[in-house]
Amino acid sequence: MRPQTARKQPAPNNTTEFGPWLAQASILAVDDELGMRNFLERTLGPRCKHIATAADTEEAARILDEHHFDVLILDNIMPGKNGVEWLSEQRAVGFFGDVILITAYADLETAIQALRAGAADFVLKPFRSNQMLNAIARCLDRGRLQRENYVLRYELKSSSDQRLSDKLIGESEAIRRVRDDIARVAPLPTSVLITGESGSGKEVAARSVHALSDRNDKPFVPVNCAAIPADMIESELFGHVKGAFTGAQASRDGLFMHAQGGTLFLDEIGELPTPMQSKLLRVLEDRRVRPVGAEREIPVDLRLLFATNADLGEHVESGRFRADLYFRINVMQIDLPPLRDRRDDVHELATLFMHQLSQQFGTPAVPISAEERALLERYDWPGNVRELRNLVERTLILGRLPDEFGRDISMAAGPEESLADIERRHILAVLREVNGNRAEAARRLGVSRKTIDRKCARWNI
Ligand SMILES: Nc1ncnc2c1ncn2[C@@H]1O[C@H](COP(=O)(O)OP(=O)(O)OP(=O)(O)O)[C@@H](O)[C@H]1O
Ligand SMILES: [Mg+2]
Repeated sequence: MRPQTARKQPAPNNTTEFGPWLAQASILAVDDELGMRNFLERTLGPRCKHIATAADTEEAARILDEHHFDVLILDNIMPGKNGVEWLSEQRAVGFFGDVILITAYADLETAIQALRAGAADFVLKPFRSNQMLNAIARCLDRGRLQRENYVLRYELKSSSDQRLSDKLIGESEAIRRVRDDIARVAPLPTSVLITGESGSGKEVAARSVHALSDRNDKPFVPVNCAAIPADMIESELFGHVKGAFTGAQASRDGLFMHAQGGTLFLDEIGELPTPMQSKLLRVLEDRRVRPVGAEREIPVDLRLLFATNADLGEHVESGRFRADLYFRINVMQIDLPPLRDRRDDVHELATLFMHQLSQQFGTPAVPISAEERALLERYDWPGNVRELRNLVERTLILGRLPDEFGRDISMAAGPEESLADIERRHILAVLREVNGNRAEAARRLGVSRKTIDRKCARWNI
């Protein structure tokens, strides 16, 4: 697997003096002068991912309709419409990309207008290639930062797990199969539906798909469909233009735009309100989104991943979920098995979490004895891996397995247990209840202190 890319996007290898993002950027240059278009193509072409040029605003509009660009370089003075005017119009109908204006006149007025119309920067003609490259690098840096901040803030609001990795741990047959499927599907553009009980690792699996895809240096944007109020969800996902509704004082990008080039993970997809289901279906078919109140649609270039812990097939039958959308997103399904069906993984996960959390808290790891390991492996884990992680966290704080854990296990005795097992489990539970006081445990159990000592010695307690 590749190095973890969870929160911080790694810099691509070919970092240049113009920053790490230039090589990944797609740029559209609009200028009526052939000489300028050629110059920009020559300078930028070898350094960025993709460059396109247009000779006027009409051609530019056509190209923008079809493809997503990270940066638009726009000449201000062109026959017909000038750049600033055109940009204002485009902003009003829902164009959100980063714009650098080229202007031949050193007048402040144009620059101010440009910035008001939503340009990120301007470059005065004549300019050297380095000036343009620096302007682009600044613009990409700022855009990246804004997006990261937004996504981070959004994640903080919606996610209860502090830091999610993109690696599924475990050597059980079941989890290996999941990892194989992920490795197979990751490089393809295919949508994936990830299913599984709560806490079984669906989001980790989604991050893993992203990390193993060629989009791994672009954003991974997780969205919990159940956490956004129904009347907000369209504008959260698709953005809105200024004045689209009361309170929409400025245009705002939606999460689809923040995920441009990368991966959008729609979690709890079964909770998506029906009107949004039709909108999502259209996005999947046309790869375009229309911000609320916007006249134009914006092409989006992203991978879509979905997750649910509900039975979507049942939702379809009961009419809660559109059948056509279900077929569209259910191209490839990855099912995370519950932890009780892969008990082999329990110990490895517990050890790993103990290690990670003890480092994070700066406290020494609490050793897990052979008996405790057996207890952990016998337990049914209704909350799956998340429950295990929480248990390890509590164990670290208490310095021992929480008392109630032993009790839960005692009640869930398996039929195949030997009498000796039951005895050991029972004594352990009592010991935990009395905080390890052997004299007290002996009294409660009605045996001698010596018996307890002997048994504990045999069990390595
Ligand atoms: N195989 C795994 N390896 C390492 N960590 C895991 C694994 N599976 C789950 N986790 C951890 O368990 C917790 C829950 O995982 P995750 O958020 O992916 O579950 P989920 O299936 O999305 O749950 P929910 O349905 O409640 O959203 C996280 O802390 C995650 O890091
Ligand atoms: Mg989740």
